[in-house]
Amino acid sequence: MEEKKEEIKDEKKKGCICSLCCLIKKCIVIFVPGIIIALILFVIIEAALVPTSKPKFCGKCHEMDEVYASWKKSPHAVNRTGVEVGCIECHLPPKDKFFSHLTAKAYTGAKDSLLHIVGADYDAKEVRKKVREHMTNEVCLKCHSKIKDNQFDKDIADFHDEMVFNPEEGTEPAKCIECHADSAHVRDDDDEDEDE
Ligand code: HEC
Ligand code: HEC
Ligand code: HEC
Ligand code: HEC
Repeated sequence: MEEKKEEIKDEKKKGCICSLCCLIKKCIVIFVPGIIIALILFVIIEAALVPTSKPKFCGKCHEMDEVYASWKKSPHAVNRTGVEVGCIECHLPPKDKFFSHLTAKAYTGAKDSLLHIVGADYDAKEVRKKVREHMTNEVCLKCHSKIKDNQFDKDIADFHDEMVFNPEEGTEPAKCIECHADSAHVRDDDDEDEDE
């Protein structure tokens, strides 16, 4: 008699009739809120990403060193196609690599903001050197992959093939920005830079 009561109590506690029902119930209890939280987070992250990804936002701090203005003069901001290539297209890992994009954005965002407040004076030349070292051809080839077989100008295609894609044995492939340094930021002092 006592045992029976105990059993019924147990079942009531679990609130389900069979073990499969129990499992399903558990799954729902865990997953549904999980999915909802994930969705909310996603919306918040997207909402935070969009305004902080716009060139104008970056330009708020980066106007001091003409980074914004020099980008505005470049073919990436204004060109005959009407496509605007924003800052993060070149300065962050691509958006489809969601996690590396997000962590890089969070890290550089936090570092930029912190150094903006407490950092030493912004040394454009030093930072530029660092950025140049890190800028890989992959960044440019994400969009310019067809430069290999330029449909409009065979000479340009051949030249790129020789310099970048199939360099002579023993020579390193050239970096896009070695020759196209001013394609992203058009600066008056660019010539000065080359002499250093
Ligand atoms: C709150 C001010 C501020 C904002 C907003 C800001 N930056 Fe910066 N940024 C800085 C400072 C300060 C540095 C110098 C940090 C250093 O010396 O490493 C910097 C450095 C950089 C560098 C070069 C250094 C590196 O580590 O690569 C790049 C590229 C850059 N920012 C791009 C951006 C982009 C793109 C945005 C917009 C998404 C942006 N910044 C928004 C203040 C800011
Ligand atoms: C087409 C790719 C591209 C785009 C778009 C682009 N950059 Fe750059 N950026 C570069 C390259 C390449 C360099 C290094 C060579 C140079 O400075 O000319 C650089 C250098 C920099 C530097 C360090 C040099 C300095 O003078 O302070 C900062 C900061 C920077 N960019 C921020 C930005 C911001 C902010 C935007 C948008 C308003 C932007 N970039 C748009 C490719 C790009
Ligand atoms: C997000 C896509 C994207 C990325 C990344 C990108 N570009 Fe571009 N680029 C464009 C577009 C769009 C144009 C304008 C096309 C036009 O005018 O025909 C352009 C124009 C150019 C031009 C001028 C072409 C002309 O006809 O005068 C050069 C040179 C160039 N890019 C080099 C680079 C280099 C070097 C990088 C890497 C640092 C880079 N691009 C990164 C999209 C991109
Ligand atoms: C050794 C120098 C050099 C290197 C390295 C180089 N280019 Fe070029 N590129 C040129 C020259 C020269 C032209 C033709 C004149 C011009 O448009 O500036 C050109 C033209 C272009 C054009 C315009 C094409 C057109 O049809 O008008 C684009 C876009 C371009 N390059 C992108 C790149 C990209 C992306 C890379 C890296 C993968 C790269 N270049 C590497 C020298 C170079």
